[in-house]
Amino acid sequence: MKNGALDLTVRIGDLVVRNPIFLAPGGLGRTPSSMKRFADAGCGAVASKTLTSEPRKGNPNPKRIRRLPSGWMLNAEGGPNIGIEAFSAAMRKTRSRIRDSHVIISVAGRTIEEFVSLATQAENMGADVIDLDISCPNATNKGAIDSWQKDLDLLYDLITTVKKNIRIPLWIKCLSAYGTLLEIVRTLEDAGADAIVPLTSIGGLAIDIETGKPVLGFEHGVGILTGPPLKWAALKTVADVCRTVKTPVVATGGCASGQDVIEFLMAGARGVQIITAFMQEGIKHVETMISQMTDLMEKNGWNRVEDLIGRSLKYLPEKPFPAWYP
Ligand SMILES: Cc1cc2nc3c(=O)[nH]c(=O)nc-3n(C[C@H](O)[C@H](O)[C@H](O)COP(=O)(O)O)c2cc1C
Repeated sequence: MKNGALDLTVRIGDLVVRNPIFLAPGGLGRTPSSMKRFADAGCGAVASKTLTSEPRKGNPNPKRIRRLPSGWMLNAEGGPNIGIEAFSAAMRKTRSRIRDSHVIISVAGRTIEEFVSLATQAENMGADVIDLDISCPNATNKGAIDSWQKDLDLLYDLITTVKKNIRIPLWIKCLSAYGTLLEIVRTLEDAGADAIVPLTSIGGLAIDIETGKPVLGFEHGVGILTGPPLKWAALKTVADVCRTVKTPVVATGGCASGQDVIEFLMAGARGVQIITAFMQEGIKHVETMISQMTDLMEKNGWNRVEDLIGRSLKYLPEKPFPAWYP
């Protein structure tokens, strides 16, 4: 996007995206028409809720707690979605009307074969990018995340096999909670991932003091925290991943303002997936973030977003922080 004299365009591999503000996978992309609304509001790319082969109800209610102090959100949704078939039918009617934003379809399977089938269906419905979700700790298919993220040979096979079956870029969303994140991202790079989306995660527990019981409906009452306070942890993850691999990185976690976007770019990200700030502030927040970003660019004499990418990395040691550091 050229905004006056400013060039907000970012390149993620061969993909040219009009600006680095993306709708992250989650409840705001549950239908193609809600993705279209975020595209119309100005997002560079819009992601679907993660889709599975069958429709899913997700975990028992309550699935999330919004507006925790300081802007946190705690959720254990468990992947509720209408299933890829119903989504695909709706997307075919809407796809031609999502014009200036790239469409990211997020999918989660239990086996390599299922991932291939989901990715192929996503490509056929008009996706520009497929986002493989191996990051969800709240999903009901327990153990899946462990197998994808702990067995690096299996992970390698997953990525290479899916890539062989599609023509569009393949992004992988993985979870930072594993001490082995940097090994995971090296495997993703070796296997040919087109971008890596490292989700910085902190687990949480909310307690109802009247009953003494956990509030969330998921087992043990646990969920994951998202939202603005996560930003600093996510910045560290992004800087670590960008110093480990050359594969493009798309940040996610705690981005809520135009200044935050610039910080993520300077840490090396080429785009930022955002959802909690949009759930809390509403869709108008897309425009607010774009104008905050362009105001800062004008004020500082920065003409091109691309020039900001990785600007802070030269001030950090060449190697990431040691693996024992939280
Ligand atoms: C309510 C909710 C639902 C989410 N659902 C998904 C999902 O289906 N797939 C996925 O990859 N990430 C999902 N996420 C994670 C977000 O895509 C995002 O990476 C994370 O919330 C961090 O960004 P944020 O701080 O801007 O929310 C979800 C997050 C929230 C809060």
